[in-house]
Amino acid sequence: FAGFSLFSILVVLLLMKSSSGAAESSAVNPCCYYPCQNRGVCVRFGTENYSCDCTRTGFHGKNCTTPEFWTRIYLMLKPSSGAVHFFLTHFKWFWTIINNSFLRDTFMRIVLTVRNELIPSPPTYNTKYEYISWESYNNLSYYTRLLPPIPKDCPLPMGTKGKPNLPDPKEFCEKYFKRREFRPDPQGTNLMFAFMAQHFTHQFFKKSHKATVGFTKALGHGVDASNIYGEELERQHQLRLHKDGKLKYQLINGEMYPPMVSEVPVDMVYPEGFPTEQRLAVGQEVFGLVPGLTMYATIWLREHNRVCDILKGEHPTWEDEQLFQTTRLIIIGEIINIIIEEYVQHLSGYHLKLKYDPSLLFGVRFQYTNRIALEFSHLYHWHPLMPDSFLIDGEEIPYSQFLYNTSILTHYGVEKLVDAFSRQSAGQIGGGRNIHQAVLRVPEILIRDSRAARLQPFNQYRKRFNLKPYSSFYELTGKLVKLYALLFVLYVSVLPCDEMSICPGSTPRLAQLHTGFYIYKVNVVVENNLYLHEKVETRQIYRI
Ligand code: HEM
Ligand SMILES: *[C@@H]1O[C@H](CO)[C@@H](O)[C@H](O)[C@H]1NC(C)=O
Ligand SMILES: *[C@@H]1O[C@H](CO)[C@@H](O)[C@H](O)[C@H]1NC(C)=O
Ligand SMILES: *[C@@H]1O[C@H](CO)[C@@H](O)[C@H](O)[C@H]1NC(C)=O
Ligand SMILES: *[C@@H]1O[C@H](CO)[C@@H](O)[C@H](O)[C@H]1NC(C)=O
Ligand SMILES: *[C@@H]1O[C@H](CO)[C@@H](O)[C@H](O)[C@H]1NC(C)=O
Repeated sequence: FAGFSLFSILVVLLLMKSSSGAAESSAVNPCCYYPCQNRGVCVRFGTENYSCDCTRTGFHGKNCTTPEFWTRIYLMLKPSSGAVHFFLTHFKWFWTIINNSFLRDTFMRIVLTVRNELIPSPPTYNTKYEYISWESYNNLSYYTRLLPPIPKDCPLPMGTKGKPNLPDPKEFCEKYFKRREFRPDPQGTNLMFAFMAQHFTHQFFKKSHKATVGFTKALGHGVDASNIYGEELERQHQLRLHKDGKLKYQLINGEMYPPMVSEVPVDMVYPEGFPTEQRLAVGQEVFGLVPGLTMYATIWLREHNRVCDILKGEHPTWEDEQLFQTTRLIIIGEIINIIIEEYVQHLSGYHLKLKYDPSLLFGVRFQYTNRIALEFSHLYHWHPLMPDSFLIDGEEIPYSQFLYNTSILTHYGVEKLVDAFSRQSAGQIGGGRNIHQAVLRVPEILIRDSRAARLQPFNQYRKRFNLKPYSSFYELTGKLVKLYALLFVLYVSVLPCDEMSICPGSTPRLAQLHTGFYIYKVNVVVENNLYLHEKVETRQIYRI
């Protein structure tokens, strides 16, 4: 929902592909140049020919660049996505009026339909199929893909541009992602939000550790509450009490908690030798890792059983199965309600008061079937949210005592954890250098996976979502000149002038980069109409 530019993880991953360098060989697959614009599809003809399929794009021409008549009119009237975002996040007085009128429904309907139209349905590609196929439509074990993989026969890892050897992921994470000093999230996000994000998304992001990347174990592809009830029916039945629709639980100090694996023998991931009497059993097998996740699991367990009691009171004739099934639907509705009206509301920064009301869409065309995309999973790796340590009830708990420690939950109890996580700031997601050492391995795996999955360059995704492609690393790193220089050195070789809006014959550009302490000079070198590189003159920058 929120602007994708927020998510520097995706940004950086994909940026690895956005640098440049001509590789002249006899028969380069022309689709490696990504010639088709405006969501046109590149189709190969013969060995050296291609054609862009511009069907229903509103454009025509070799590369789908010439707008049709109505497209031209539409483009003239259409505000940029930046302008729309600005509008939604400013003019409070205006939104005050909207919030309290029937227009709130109208705007919410527009938000939903506009966002929905950015995503193809039925789903298109996946990591194996870069063309439309029955298999990619029908086989739910694949994550879908918004853009097809980089063709396998391209001369360079990113297509036709960039360096032939990409930087070592581990080294890159040390230099680019590792936190030096904690930077709090500028929107005031707290840890309660961070664990909500992790708990919520891990019902549909469950990477399958198969031999190849791009597969998921979460076959529901959406908000099915499988993180609470289990992915498989067998697990669900083990977790269920089979009485009054309820889930199994244990009481500790008179309060309800998930049962132990010794009572409910479902598959859970715990380190070897982890005491059996401390292994909590919940819907999602990895949730024992983080107390924030078992805390949410406990909250939803209590809520499920609370709703069961109310339902049984109203429908004393209903059997266990109907109470369970109806409660599950209610829980899913509660989850979506919280996600839209509080979670996305917070993320978006919109002054429009978002609304969860299914009937908003009853009168319009809307695709309800969903397929989770690999790109969605990648950009959701919000590990910078995690703090340096956890401050609970006056104590500071390091990662070594926090992870895989179920007694954090049972020792402090839900109330104290909610209080603690609500007070503690989460880290800023974007901007680089804000991932704690304890989770630094995650972006490293992510980079490896994104390369193996041949994800297209970052700017291709910018274009796919009608955003202006970045023309410089500055747009990614802002004033952080060291990070800028780092990316530049690691990823850029030569860029054709047209990409950098530096036109033939123009003189080298001098730019000054301001940082806290230094001013660096950057010399843009242009030769033979080719933008060669931006020479950072101060040597110090390279010592990162
Ligand atoms: C202390 C907290 C956390 C730890 C220790 C942790 C650890 C991990 C690990 C080990 C992986 C698996 C990496 C792989 O094999 O691909 C992972 C994946 C992931 N994490 Fe975290 N993480 C934490 C917090 C978060 C938070 C707050 C989010 C926010 C949304 C998040 C989002 C994700 C996502 C989306 C995945 C991919 C899941 C999948 O595809 O299966 N994580 N994390
Ligand atoms: C189409 O794109 C290719 C590759 O980017 C480019 O070489 C060619 O000049 C473009 N053709 C037209 C007609 O725009
Ligand atoms: C390439 O395809 C176009 C049509 O898309 C055609 O006009 C052109 O003659 C073809 N060129 C070659 C060398 O086959
Ligand atoms: C989906 O594709 C994978 C990989 O080709 C295959 O192993 C699996 O059996 C397929 N699943 C179904 C349900 O066809
Ligand atoms: C409208 O809703 C937004 C988001 O909840 C909020 O920031 C704003 O203050 C609201 N204004 C009124 C008057 O409801
Ligand atoms: C787990 O957390 C409890 C409660 O904070 C703490 O006393 C204990 O030392 C932790 N266990 C480990 C192995 O760190």
